[in-house]
Amino acid sequence: MKIFLDSADRKLIEKYLSTGLIDGVTTNPSLLSAQGQNTKEVILDILRMVPGDVSIEVVEKSPDAVYEQAHQIAKLGDNAIVKIPFAFEYLPTIAKLVEDGVQLNITLVFSALQALMVAKLGVTYISPFVGRLDDIGSDGMVLIEDLVTLKQQYEFPSQILAASIRHVMHWERAALLGADVATVPPALIEAACHHPLTELGIKKFDQDWQKLGKQSLLE
Ligand code: G3P
Repeated sequence: MKIFLDSADRKLIEKYLSTGLIDGVTTNPSLLSAQGQNTKEVILDILRMVPGDVSIEVVEKSPDAVYEQAHQIAKLGDNAIVKIPFAFEYLPTIAKLVEDGVQLNITLVFSALQALMVAKLGVTYISPFVGRLDDIGSDGMVLIEDLVTLKQQYEFPSQILAASIRHVMHWERAALLGADVATVPPALIEAACHHPLTELGIKKFDQDWQKLGKQSLLE
């Protein structure tokens, strides 16, 4: 499974890139807005820092303006992936951009049929939002399960990118179900590393080693 970092915070991106685990980054207008006014500088820095795919979302509204902005974003770097929210009126734009060779991540996907439609158009990534489905009393993981089934059934190449991951179990379930990618908030990487038995085990090994009273293992 590929692991993307769901963040536009350059310090955090740098910190977690050093773990060697991060295959890419996803941003969105909310995450970028939290970084202040210098949006272009932030985007260009992230594109330079991250060796893998970086999703940048359009903020234009009309299909023509979305088309224009998608091309502008795609030109920013070979690893720039254009994020477009799912909407009926964007389908022709999405089809045209795929034809132009622009790599797309279709975001705010909440149903299997939305996913099937954009898979048919040949987009690179499809982003189902797990946590926001949970927020309204639905089970977000069922959508991941459905999309994995659809992908196996129709063998489409679009990658299922589990998004709106809020806790470790979302991420783990997405991995077990076979989502191609999970985009995770930075804090979850560390949260997923902790296990009380690992920490207890380290403590016990250390206590036993100290009983020997030796300084060095190999002398
Ligand atoms: O990748 C999309 C993600 O950032 C949305 O997460 O927690 O705002 O639903 P959330």
